[in-house]
Amino acid sequence: MLASAASVAQSPGGTSFPPEQIKRGSQLYATNCESCHGVRMAGTEWAINLNTFPRDRPDRFVDSVTNGIRTMPPWGDMLKPDDIQALWAYVVAGEPKN
Ligand code: HEC
Repeated sequence: MLASAASVAQSPGGTSFPPEQIKRGSQLYATNCESCHGVRMAGTEWAINLNTFPRDRPDRFVDSVTNGIRTMPPWGDMLKPDDIQALWAYVVAGEPKN
């Protein structure tokens, strides 16, 4: 088996994300989301632990992040759809291995 194939993370739905996309999401997360959602998605008193976000709702993720939800600010002006996809890859796949 190829090492590169083994390093592609699998979501429960069977979708796989390229490692570069996960890494990009991790960087975007550290810059934009960590202050509220905690280091490595640990969660804080005031914002949810993103590890608990339902993995079968990428549509809701994109919608909430783009438009905001209740006390969470909208990101649609700051992040491109590509960036939000990378964030989704990071949320589903977790911390990159390297
Ligand atoms: C200013 C603080 C803050 C920042 C920065 C922030 N969030 Fe949030 N986020 C929140 C809060 C508070 C909630 C809970 C909102 C609620 O349900 O009332 C939340 C909820 C969410 C949810 C759940 C939405 C749902 O449909 O249940 C997602 C997904 C999310 N944030 C992703 C992100 C991502 C990705 C970023 C970085 C681009 C980010 N957040 C940055 C405060 C923040």
